[in-house]
Amino acid sequence: MGANLNSRKEHNQKVRTYFDKTAVSFDTFYDKKRSSFMQWVDRKYRSDIFERFRLAFETLDPIVDKTVLDIGCGSGPYVVEAALRGSSKVVGLDMAQGMLDLAKQRAEAAGCIEGCQFVLGMFPQDVLQEKFNYAIVMGVMDYIADPLNFLTVLAQQVTDRAVLSFPSKHWFRTPLRKFRYWLKRCPVYFYEPKQIEDLSKVAGFSNLKIEKIPGAGMDYFVTLSK
Ligand SMILES: C[S@@+](CC[C@H](N)C(=O)[O-])C[C@H]1O[C@@H](n2cnc3c(N)ncnc32)[C@H](O)[C@@H]1O
Repeated sequence: MGANLNSRKEHNQKVRTYFDKTAVSFDTFYDKKRSSFMQWVDRKYRSDIFERFRLAFETLDPIVDKTVLDIGCGSGPYVVEAALRGSSKVVGLDMAQGMLDLAKQRAEAAGCIEGCQFVLGMFPQDVLQEKFNYAIVMGVMDYIADPLNFLTVLAQQVTDRAVLSFPSKHWFRTPLRKFRYWLKRCPVYFYEPKQIEDLSKVAGFSNLKIEKIPGAGMDYFVTLSK
């Protein structure tokens, strides 16, 4: 039990350290602040990130007057978009202070900081007391050691719908990504559709839709409701 707790703490610390270190470079994704070459790499190999953003807001329409929890909000692109689209309340939760600082700056620059709250915490350990209409979980399941526990708590936290991305398994890109993250000392996980379906059902979601993001996409875009 003690060993388990220690290894979970160590796991979480590795993910937090990784995202605290990479916060600024991750953020440059969204605002085209990278070099032309890196923008080309992003368009060719990381188009998922833009496609899942589009799909998220398409799936969460209408968002006006809905409450939204963005778990692993990172530098806040979804928080800001949800606030600008008229959500009544948006909470961005993230375990990395560096990411939350950027998210606050983004919300300030977009003029929507009043409608946003930012919470430093780790899901599902740090559960918020209130429930939300919608939850957004993008680019996060990649780093979750116990996805069943995560989804079970998520099911209790959401009343209407949750949208999530799950990284898929690919014969070439998965070992490459595993190796890259091993070098950075950050754990990373991959999923099969059947596994996503089984986990979601056991967690308490009876409706699920799994879409493979086309093109360079390595992610599944998943919509869950009860
Ligand atoms: C790849 S970034 C994605 C950020 C944002 N959702 C996006 O799509 O732009 C993953 C973020 O999830 C956060 N994170 C990972 N595991 C978490 C957890 N269990 N609880 C809260 N935040 C977590 C990391 O700190 C990081 O900011």
